[in-house]
Amino acid sequence: MTQDDTRKARRIIITGGAGFIGSNFVHHWSKNYPEDRIIVLDSLTYAGNRATLKDLENLENFRFVHGDICDRPLVDELLKQENIDTVAHFAAESHVDRSILGPGAFVQTNVVGTFTLLESFRQYWLESAKPEHHRFLHVSTDEVYGSLEPNDPPFSETTPYSPNSPYSASKAGSDHLARAYYHTYGMPTIITNCSNNYGPFHFPEKLLPLMIINILLSKPLPVYGDGQNVRDWLYVKDHCQALDLVIHKGTPGQTYNVGGNNEVKNIDLVHLLCKLMDELAGDLPVKPAESLITFVKDRPGHDRRYAIDASKIRHELGWVPQKTVEQGIRETILWYLENQQWWRPLLSADYQAYYEASYGQKFT
Ligand code: NAD
Ligand code: DAU
Repeated sequence: MTQDDTRKARRIIITGGAGFIGSNFVHHWSKNYPEDRIIVLDSLTYAGNRATLKDLENLENFRFVHGDICDRPLVDELLKQENIDTVAHFAAESHVDRSILGPGAFVQTNVVGTFTLLESFRQYWLESAKPEHHRFLHVSTDEVYGSLEPNDPPFSETTPYSPNSPYSASKAGSDHLARAYYHTYGMPTIITNCSNNYGPFHFPEKLLPLMIINILLSKPLPVYGDGQNVRDWLYVKDHCQALDLVIHKGTPGQTYNVGGNNEVKNIDLVHLLCKLMDELAGDLPVKPAESLITFVKDRPGHDRRYAIDASKIRHELGWVPQKTVEQGIRETILWYLENQQWWRPLLSADYQAYYEASYGQKFT
């Protein structure tokens, strides 16, 4: 969003701001709106990393709060104390494979946590003097729509919900609550449903960082099933720009689908990544990197295809993604090569235990 003289400074609380997309969004917001007050609320689960925000910690307008979105007294206090007008809600359990291993945390954070934020904000918003400026952005996923057949049209905002994993079911539940708070109470909630993101600060468990790191460590590249599943990839900074537009120009009560129009089969994406790693990563111990590809047991209930029709946000808010998949993956690889001090500590004993439980093979 370009700055204009009439823009009113915001006081924004960003939940999950130490995670992947949340931290990219915090950096985006701080750079573009230095006059705004930014509060990050994050409980620093395995996926949260405060070091990601270290550049911002000393800014006067920035505050990090280590806390849980399910903690109602804390959320009530923060909204009042900081005179918040904008909630950007990213905090979630986000990894499908972990939701298969243990769905409880997903229901707790994604459903109960979102409910807690909505309820707290409702009370606060009702008591506010100028509530027309307020916004509650609920950041969600295309996975709530279920799985597409090869010739189906992409998901639009009117596609019926049909979630298939505990993760997507919990996100669907939270979307329904956010929607209901607009329809029942008139609270200015807006929902975005986005496709697969990639880019800097992505936790190693997700497909692209996992493959980059495993190539650097000469480990097998586990491709689920036949590798023909399709995802619609979007560079995380393009997503942040979309969310910025939605907060500033979106209509309360509306849903906006966000996607890169970049449908790629997993196996083709992994081949592209391997080719770029051979080119960019210097002296790899195993070359070509694609010789590490290993087909493994499929994810239970693995959705076959996701694709987003982003024409609503393009036409109504003028959002157009900037990066092609190849450009974005090149930049992402370079980022992981240059920021090994960020990701190496994340390959902890916990991560290794998760890896073994999920893949049935040791990480070390
Ligand atoms: P992530 O797992 O990288 O980060 C989640 C963050 O939330 C972490 O910092 C974690 O510490 C924090 N958190 C978890 N539980 C919390 C709690 N109870 N209280 C406070 N903080 C808590 O997730 P991400 O990939 O950045 O996803 C962010 C949001 O975007 C999620 O809501 C996700 O559903 C949605 N989304 C993700 C993608 C994607 O491709 N990653 C795509 C579309 C939508
Ligand atoms: O579509 C948006 C969603 O994208 C977000 O809501 C989720 O939070 C995010 O995690 C992501 O979900 P996916 O399950 O699509 O992402 P993941 O990176 O786990 O997997 C991408 C594809 O790659 C998927 O088809 C499964 C496959 N895969 C994944 C891993 C980790 C593999 O083949 N091997 C792997 O080791």
